[in-house]
Amino acid sequence: MISIKKNFSLKNYNTFGLDQRCSEFIEYDDVAELQSFIKDGNISGKRLFQLGSGSNILLCDDFDGTMMHSQIKGIEIVYEDAEFVDVKVGAGEIMDDFIAWSVENGYCGAENLSIIPGTVGASAVQNVGAYGVEAKDIIKEVEMIKIEDGSIHVAPNEELHFGYRLSRFKEDWKDKFIVTHVTYRLKKEPDFKLSYGGLAKELEGKEINLKSIRETIISIRNNKLPEVGKVGSAGSFFKNPIVSRSIYDEICRRESADESVIVPKYDISENEVKIPAGWMIERCGWKGQSHNGAGVWHKQALILVNNGNAKSSDIIELANTIQVDVWSRFGIKIEPEVIYINNL
Ligand code: EPU
Repeated sequence: MISIKKNFSLKNYNTFGLDQRCSEFIEYDDVAELQSFIKDGNISGKRLFQLGSGSNILLCDDFDGTMMHSQIKGIEIVYEDAEFVDVKVGAGEIMDDFIAWSVENGYCGAENLSIIPGTVGASAVQNVGAYGVEAKDIIKEVEMIKIEDGSIHVAPNEELHFGYRLSRFKEDWKDKFIVTHVTYRLKKEPDFKLSYGGLAKELEGKEINLKSIRETIISIRNNKLPEVGKVGSAGSFFKNPIVSRSIYDEICRRESADESVIVPKYDISENEVKIPAGWMIERCGWKGQSHNGAGVWHKQALILVNNGNAKSSDIIELANTIQVDVWSRFGIKIEPEVIYINNL
């Protein structure tokens, strides 16, 4: 079924809980139906945005365009051999429902992404990641409809040009396709990724299996991140910047001049490291601080929150001020991970 609503409030469709509207809101749950809808010219020429569960967006204003909201569901094994299982999942499924399913069935690969907010479709667009695993590591291929003519296209992983919180859907394929299904390739044998930030330590003394990894990640995240549904946020607001080792060394020298500070980093390559933006924001004194209705989460400074009655402008102003402060102290430009939705 295809449902069309006009002048629709998105308050329950963005995790910041901002009360902005869109001119049109279209929901669909069937690929063939959506294909004919597109072929009949129903969305051509419109300003579009494909909305998942709104967990990584900032609605800057009322959106003068059409929000496309997938309700395509289903988790189906489409191939398996002794080593792998390929699972085709509807873009409108909640990512964590699929992860819970994979852990329940003993398939390995998705567990580090446990309780990551968002939908399956968005996992491919944004290449979501946590605890050393990114969606790209388990995505085999993505099925989509071409907006121009309603045809189906299946793109293998290599064609999707994945990067850090990046895919082709945010670059040259932007507004060209609607993602309908994602096929993930999972392993039947254990191949756990435990090296990231304290995960192995948290697992010490526990039996290590898919269930214990999932439970541990859920508990780490619940301790650090605001509870979805209770506190408005969009997870990490900024990306962690990638800088050269010489810049990193310089920051270490400056920051540890009069105290013994260890600047955290993730190694990216021989010459590059990623510095956690949350650490820099905390060093600038922003952790737990507020600006009008918006605030910086007191347990994780990378997360901006709606303190209850934030306007979009409060969040935008807070983000801008933090960017300026980080630039002044570290000489590093931090970029939002959250997608700003406006009418520009
Ligand atoms: N840190 C601080 N102060 C803070 C926050 C972090 O000092 O307020 C330090 C921590 O002590 C640690 C380092 O910064 O040494 C990294 O912190 P954390 O492990 O919390 O992860 P992150 O780099 O801030 C990234 C992802 C998260 C993901 C976690 C865990 C990005 C932008 N964010 O955050 O993803 O859950 O790693 O893998 O890459 C998201 O994208 O919405 C998201 C939550």
